[in-house]
Amino acid sequence: MIAFSIQFLLSAFLLSPLVAQAADTFLWNQLTPSQDLQWVPCYSIFQCTRLEVPFDYSDPNVGTAALAVIRLPANVSGTDYQGPILFNPGGPGGSGVDSLVENAAKFQVVFGTELTKYDIVSFDPRGVRYSTPQASFFQTQVERDLWNAGSLPASLNASSNAIPNAWGRAHLLGAIAAQRDTSQILKYLTTDNVARDMLLMTQKFGFEKLKYYGTSYGSVIGATFAAMFPDKVERILIDGVVDPEAWFSANLTIESTDTDKALQTFFDGCAAAGPDLCAFYKPTAAEIAERLTTLTESVRRTPIPALASTGYGLVDYSLLRNTIFKSLYAPYEWFPALAQGMAALEKGNGTTLYSISVQQDTPFQDDCTTNSTATPTDDAAIAIQCGDAAEVKDSVQEVTDFYRNAARTSKFAEFFVGSSRVSCSGWQVYREDRFNGPVAAANTSFPLLLTTTSADPVTPKAGALRVQAAFPGSGLLTQDSPGHTSNTAPSLCTIGYFRQYFFNGTLPPPGTVCPVEVSLFGAPANFTSKRALSTDDKEILAAMKAISESLLSVIGSSKFRI
Ligand SMILES: *[C@@H]1O[C@H](CO)[C@@H](O)[C@H](O)[C@H]1NC(C)=O
Ligand SMILES: *[C@@H]1O[C@H](CO)[C@@H](O)[C@H](O)[C@H]1NC(C)=O
Ligand SMILES: *[C@@H]1O[C@H](CO)[C@@H](O)[C@H](O)[C@H]1NC(C)=O
Ligand SMILES: *[C@@H]1O[C@H](CO)[C@@H](O)[C@H](O)[C@H]1NC(C)=O
Ligand SMILES: *[C@@H]1O[C@H](CO)[C@@H](O)[C@H](O)[C@H]1NC(C)=O
Ligand SMILES: *[C@@H]1O[C@H](CO)[C@@H](O)[C@H](O)[C@H]1NC(C)=O
Ligand SMILES: *[C@@H]1O[C@H](CO)[C@@H](O)[C@H](O)[C@H]1NC(C)=O
Ligand SMILES: *[C@@H]1O[C@H](CO)[C@@H](O)[C@H](O)[C@H]1NC(C)=O
Repeated sequence: MIAFSIQFLLSAFLLSPLVAQAADTFLWNQLTPSQDLQWVPCYSIFQCTRLEVPFDYSDPNVGTAALAVIRLPANVSGTDYQGPILFNPGGPGGSGVDSLVENAAKFQVVFGTELTKYDIVSFDPRGVRYSTPQASFFQTQVERDLWNAGSLPASLNASSNAIPNAWGRAHLLGAIAAQRDTSQILKYLTTDNVARDMLLMTQKFGFEKLKYYGTSYGSVIGATFAAMFPDKVERILIDGVVDPEAWFSANLTIESTDTDKALQTFFDGCAAAGPDLCAFYKPTAAEIAERLTTLTESVRRTPIPALASTGYGLVDYSLLRNTIFKSLYAPYEWFPALAQGMAALEKGNGTTLYSISVQQDTPFQDDCTTNSTATPTDDAAIAIQCGDAAEVKDSVQEVTDFYRNAARTSKFAEFFVGSSRVSCSGWQVYREDRFNGPVAAANTSFPLLLTTTSADPVTPKAGALRVQAAFPGSGLLTQDSPGHTSNTAPSLCTIGYFRQYFFNGTLPPPGTVCPVEVSLFGAPANFTSKRALSTDDKEILAAMKAISESLLSVIGSSKFRI
C-alpha cells in the first residue's frame, strides 16, 4: 500500500506521458489561421481551429495572433444545442488545448450528460503553447535549460545572497525578454486581451454572452471579463479565486493568507492518522511541527545528495521547502508520500523526496540537433503576470522589505508571493492602455459563482470574498478541505452546485459549505469515499481525481504556480 502511494504520487506530479504524446500528434502549424471557426478533426474526438485575433483591439495595424482553439463538440443540434462553455486551466501560461484533450471526457462524466448539449471549448491564450507567435525568451531549449541550470526555484530565504541573486537574475531576464521581443508582441499578452479574445470567440460561435469555467489564474481571466463586459456574462464559474487587486498590483501577499493553515492540516492530519498512514508521525501536531523544524535546520546545514531514477541533485533547504509548499496544493494526494520522503530524509536518504520533487527529465539530455517541442511555460507566465501588473521598480532593499513583510503573513512567502514580486521588478515591457482594474461591476447580466476551499495555500478564501464584494449578487461556495481549488478533493456536494449553476442558473445558498468524500492520509491510493456510493458516483470520483492530477500538472509546470 505504501509503495503504491509513492508511485501514485509520482504520477500525480507528472504530466501523463500518453496524453503528452497524443497532444504532439496534431500539427497545428499545418492549419491556416482564419477569422472564422473552421473546424477540422484532431486528437481523435476533438475539433481544432486557429482563430486570428488582433494583437491590439484598438489598432488593427499591429497585426494578428493565431489562437489555437479546440472543442469537444456537443452531440445535439437544433434548439437543444446550448453553445460553447470556455475553459481555462490556469498557469498563467497553461495550455488550454492540452488540458482539454486530457479532461473533456472527464468533465462530461463529472458534469453529467447535460454537458453533451454544449461545446466544451478551450484555447491556448495568446503567446502560449500552440498559439502563435509564442512567447519565448530563449532560442533553444538547451539555452533555457542553461538559464535554469536544472534547478527548482530557490527559496528567497535560502541564504543572505538569495534575494540579491534572484533580483539580479530577474533584471537580466527582463532585459533578455525586452531585447528579443523584436516584433513587440509581449505587451499584448495581457489578461484584458484574453478577455477580449473570449468575447470574440463567443461571438464567432454565434452567441452574445460568455459561459466560462476557469481555475486558479483562470479566475483572473473570468473576473477581468466580468469587469470589462458585465452585460456579456451568462455563466462564470471560477474556482481558486485570485484577488484581482493583488494580481494587478504585483503584490500577492494576501494570497498566502491560508498557506500556513494548509501546512497545519499536515501536522493535524498526520497526528490523527497514526504511524501506519503517516510516516512522519508523532503523537501530537506540535511534535510533528517540531520534527519538521529540526529536519529543515539539519538539511540547511548539511544537504543530502540524491541519485534517483528521475535524475540527481541535492536535497537542500530550497528543495525541501519547495516540496512541502508544492504538496500543500494537493494534500489528499501528496501528504502521504511527503511524509515518507521526509522520514527517509531524516535517515539520510534523500532519494524519495528528490523523486517526488523533481519530475522533469534531467536537463541537458535534449538532442541538440532536433528542435524541442517543450513549452516555454515560464516565459509566457512572466510576460502575462508582470505585463498585467503595475510597474514594479523595486530595489534589492525594497524586495527584501517586501519579502519580510509578506513573511509575516506566511512562512512560505519565499516562493510564489516573493518570487513573483522579484520577477516583476525586472520586467520592462508594458502597454500603457492595459486594463488593470478596478475588477468590479455593480451589476453583471448573470451572477458569478466563486469557489474556494477552507485552506487554499495560494488562493485563499480572503481573495474570493474580495471578488464577491466587487460583484454584488455573486455566489460563494466553500469546500471544506485544504488544497488549491476544489478539484484537489472530490465532493459530490460541490459538483452538484456546479451543475445547478451551469444548467439551471441556481446559486448555492449563502454560507454553503460542502464536505468532501475523503480524509487526509486516509485514501493513499485513490479518492475512495468514506461512505458507500453508487457506481455512477464512484465513476465521478475517479474522473475528478484524474482532472485534479491534470490541472495540478499545468500549475506545477510554471514557477509561479496558480
Ligand atoms: C450524447 O451523449 C450522451 C452522453 O454520452 C448520451 O447519453 C446521448 O445519448 C448522446 N446523444 C446523442 C444524440 O448521441
Ligand atoms: C502588499 O500587501 C500587503 C497586504 O496584503 C501590505 O501589507 C504591503 O504593504 C503591500 N506591499 C506593498 C509594497 O505595497
Ligand atoms: C534510499 O531509499 C530508496 C527508496 O526506499 C532505496 O531504493 C535506496 O536504495 C535508498 N538509498 C540508500 C543510499 O540507502
Ligand atoms: C529547427 O527549426 C529551424 C527554425 O524553424 C529550422 O530551420 C530547422 O530546420 C529545424 N531543425 C530541425 C531538425 O527540425
Ligand atoms: C528563514 O530562515 C531562518 C534560518 O533558518 C529561519 O530562522 C526563519 O524562520 C526563516 N524564515 C521564514 C519566514 O521561514
Ligand atoms: C442588472 O442587469 C440585469 C440585466 O442586465 C437587469 O435585469 C437587472 O435589473 C439589473 N439589476 C440591477 C440591480 O441593476
Ligand atoms: C432549478 O432552479 C430553480 C430555481 O431557480 C429551482 O426551483 C429548481 O428546483 C431547480 N431545478 C433543479 C432540477 O434543481
Ligand atoms: C479505486 O476506486 C475505484 C472505485 O471505487 C475502485 O474500483 C478501485 O479498485 C480503487 N483502486 C484502489 C487501488 O483502491
